[in-house]
Amino acid sequence: MAQFTLPQNSKVKKGDRYDVANGAANARTFKVYRWDPDTEDNPRLDEYKVDLGKCGPMVLDALIHIKNDVDSTLTFRRSCREGICGSCAMNIDGTNTLACTKDIADCKGDVKITPLPHMPVVKDLVPDLTHVYAQYETIEPWMKADSPAPERERLQSPEDANLLNGDDGHGPAGCILCFCCSTSCPSYWWNGDRFLGPAILLQAYRWIADTRDEATGERLDALEDPFRLYRCHTIMNCTNTCPKGLNPAKAIAEIKKMMVTRR
Ligand code: SF4
Ligand code: SF4
Ligand code: FES
Repeated sequence: MAQFTLPQNSKVKKGDRYDVANGAANARTFKVYRWDPDTEDNPRLDEYKVDLGKCGPMVLDALIHIKNDVDSTLTFRRSCREGICGSCAMNIDGTNTLACTKDIADCKGDVKITPLPHMPVVKDLVPDLTHVYAQYETIEPWMKADSPAPERERLQSPEDANLLNGDDGHGPAGCILCFCCSTSCPSYWWNGDRFLGPAILLQAYRWIADTRDEATGERLDALEDPFRLYRCHTIMNCTNTCPKGLNPAKAIAEIKKMMVTRR
C-alpha cells in the first residue's frame, strides 16, 4: 500500500538550542537542518540565536559565524561567496537560493534553512550531487566541431554570442550549476531518474545554441525521448527560483521548438 508519511527515522525532530546573542537588540534565530550519517539519529532542526552585529549581512555570513564561533560541527558548502560558484545553494525561508546572496534582512522572522529539496543528503546542508552531475555528463558539455580549427580561436558575431549571453546578460552561459531550479521542479522530484531537469536542459541548450558547435543534430537526437526532455510540463518553478535570473523554462521551450522545426 502507498505510504504517504515519512518513515519514522526520516522525521525531523526538534534539535538543540544555542543562544549566543547575549541579549543583543539586533538578534535573529536561525533554524538549521542537521543530519549526521555517522549516527542513527533522526534529522533535527537546531536553533541558533545570534547577534547580527557579529556577522555580515547575508545568510552565508550567519552560517559562517555559527560554524566559527558556536558549533563547528555544522556542515555546508561554500566557496566564492559572490554568487558565482553555485556551491552554497540551499532552501532558505522556503525558497531555493544562494546563501551568499540572500540578505538576512529579506527573511521574515526566524530563518529556516534546509538542504536543497528532494536530493539525498550527505550531511547537514550538503546535498549529494552525484546523480545530477552524471546527468550533466550525458549532454557532453563541451564544444564539438569536426571542421579544421582556425589558427586562432573560433570567432562569433556579437549576435551569435548574445544567444549564449542573452541581450540582458541572463542567457544560458550565465548558469552556475547551483541546481536551485532542478530541485524546485516537481517533474524532476518525481522523475529525476530519467528526466534531465531544468539545469541540465539549460546546459544542453547552451551547446545547441552555440553557433561554433557542429553537433546540433546529434545533441537534439540525444534529447528526443519521452522522459529526458518531455517531462517538462512548463510549471515554471525553475525560472521563478533561479538566483541568477536565468530562464531554464524558455531554454527548454527553445529545444522543443527546434525538435519540431528541424528537418
Ligand atoms: S518549466 Fe519544466 S523544468 Fe521548469 S519547473 Fe516546470 S516542469 Fe520543471
Ligand atoms: S539555471 Fe539558474 S537555478 Fe538553474 S542551475 Fe543554472 S543558475 Fe542555478
Ligand atoms: S558561495 Fe559561491 S555561490 Fe554562494
